[in-house]
Amino acid sequence: MSSEILDRSLVLDAVRVTEAAAIAAWRLAGRGDEKAADQAAVDAMRTALNDLELEGEIVIGEGERDEAPMLYIGEKVGLGGKHKIDIALDPLEGTTLTAKAMANALAVMAWAPKGTLLNAPDTYMDKIACGPGYPPGVIDLDKAPAENVKAMAAAKGVDASEITVCILDRPRHADIIASVRASGARIHLITDGDVAGVINTADPETGIDLYIGQGGAPEGVLACAALKCVGGQFQGRLVFRNADERARAARVGITELDKKYDLHEMVRADAIFAATGVTKGALLDGVHMSGGFVHTHTLVMNSATRTVREVRMKRPV
Ligand code: FBP
Repeated sequence: MSSEILDRSLVLDAVRVTEAAAIAAWRLAGRGDEKAADQAAVDAMRTALNDLELEGEIVIGEGERDEAPMLYIGEKVGLGGKHKIDIALDPLEGTTLTAKAMANALAVMAWAPKGTLLNAPDTYMDKIACGPGYPPGVIDLDKAPAENVKAMAAAKGVDASEITVCILDRPRHADIIASVRASGARIHLITDGDVAGVINTADPETGIDLYIGQGGAPEGVLACAALKCVGGQFQGRLVFRNADERARAARVGITELDKKYDLHEMVRADAIFAATGVTKGALLDGVHMSGGFVHTHTLVMNSATRTVREVRMKRPV
């Protein structure tokens, strides 16, 4: 499976798709309407995907067919052709961030050969992630957060007080926060956007060593595609709050409900990952307008070649 790779020429196509979604969402940044910003990103991403010569199937999208008229799970996109791909997307990762014109909103997408991305249901997932360069198994979702901090500190050769853990600022994370605080580590709280939270563990510039917490399962697959390109470790376990969520899992073919997935089980072949900044953040600059041009900043990576590119685009408004 892992030898399957996508054609390198698809990399720039992926960039065009996330650029289109980011520009559309940005036009609605700071206007207090999360749904409108999300819808604009969805429409733009769908139009861009349907312009490409590929046979794509949405495996991580806006939800199930009856609740998402566009980019629903199972929707086929593209003009057809030799490239048969699984698509995971989040046209607007950070709807609230965008509505409030806060930092770190992204348009995100991952592509992999057909049948190689985990078809994660739209539920929560418990997640833990770290960047590259550490021994396999240094982090373990089943260990207490404080234990994971200690293991990271030992692997990095520093005191636990020099480890920084990124956590979504949610009441449900009170126990995780208490455990990390007890370890002596620093906590970087984020209001939203755990795809970037996970990716930041792979970038020493951010100072973030670990990501721990519960966020969207679809975002978990997207983050794994990104880590597959730059290295790092990830473990996730789906969280089901009720029978409806368990039924969602069944509909996408998940039978082992309490399975602990690692990165390579969530993304089982080489993948292309693209993210364009909507609002300026640690990872990417946001969309901006100047001199009659719209400017975008995109990160695009191909795990097959371990290539990481930053693409800056400008075009007349
Ligand atoms: P949206 O863009 O869909 O609002 O998601 C933002 C986000 O912060 C994700 O990054 C994260 O996985 C999820 O929401 C966390 O969910 P919740 O806001 O319910 O805690």
